[in-house]
Amino acid sequence: MSNLQGKVALCTGAGRHKGLGEAIAKALAAEGAKVVVTDLGKPQAHMGSEHIGTSDELEAIAAEIRDTGGDAIAVPLDVRDEAQVEAAIARAVEAFGRLDFLINNAGIGYLIKPVTEMPKEEWEAVLDVNLMGAFLCTKHAARQMIKQGEGGRIINIASQAAKSGHPHMCAYVSSKHGMVGLTRTCAVELGPHGITVNAVCPNHVTTGLGSVQNDYFARYRGMSVEQYLENMRNSIPMRREGLTSDTANACAFLCSDAACYITGEALNVSGGAEMH
Ligand SMILES: NC(=O)c1ccc[n+]([C@@H]2O[C@H](COP(=O)([O-])OP(=O)(O)OC[C@H]3O[C@@H](n4cnc5c(N)ncnc54)[C@H](O)[C@@H]3O)[C@@H](O)[C@H]2O)c1
Repeated sequence: MSNLQGKVALCTGAGRHKGLGEAIAKALAAEGAKVVVTDLGKPQAHMGSEHIGTSDELEAIAAEIRDTGGDAIAVPLDVRDEAQVEAAIARAVEAFGRLDFLINNAGIGYLIKPVTEMPKEEWEAVLDVNLMGAFLCTKHAARQMIKQGEGGRIINIASQAAKSGHPHMCAYVSSKHGMVGLTRTCAVELGPHGITVNAVCPNHVTTGLGSVQNDYFARYRGMSVEQYLENMRNSIPMRREGLTSDTANACAFLCSDAACYITGEALNVSGGAEMH
């Protein structure tokens, strides 16, 4: 589809097996890009180890890319920490000489509660990772891309939740709507530098994060997870949930030369579940 030979990508939150970040990193590597695979690596505060990519998984995903003939390094990165963001971008440049693509994929979607019961700390945790983290990575990646003077691509993994409301997900939905605002603003600012900025909006994918949502909403609706998923599939025009490859393919396209004039978009990858 695209040829990303000679390009360098950094993907956040990509150190968890079965996650969208893993699929994106591998898809870009398969197209020839050198990839900096980053993730939190260790549990922090409200984030139990069951919710994050561990440092072993992070190293394993980079190794799997190398094993299939690609080029990848693993770099621990908490996207909430500006010094770590700067260091990770410097590490990308040190290892591969440049940075062409940033994929803001890190996100938390497991702090699910009615708005009337949502603790301020959990709201802040979601906004800090999903929105502030994307801002910090964009800020420093864009500086590097501007310095190189050859354009670049920034892709924000938003969500169907960036377009519509969903119950019990006030922080998540707000953060993803905010990501679209960040996308549009950065597209306007960075376009003159040849940098495109787009959001990708997947519908439900049963990743680690997705399976927490399945459990929660099946329980909330008083049905089994299988029944919940069956109802979901029946409501989607393409009659299936999203796959990690659907989002990864959209990212590879947006990084390709063919997408050089597409910017400021919030692209649904939802089998028709979301149409605006
Ligand atoms: N699964 C879905 O249904 C779905 C749908 C639409 C959008 N998304 C979005 O896709 C992205 C990836 O989610 P996923 O479903 O693959 O889940 P996932 O849990 O597999 O991936 C999220 C990753 O973010 C990482 N992360 C959390 N806090 C971090 C921090 N402070 N710094 C760096 N990394 C951090 C986690 O370690 C994890 O590896 C998220 O932004 C999510 O909101 C997911």
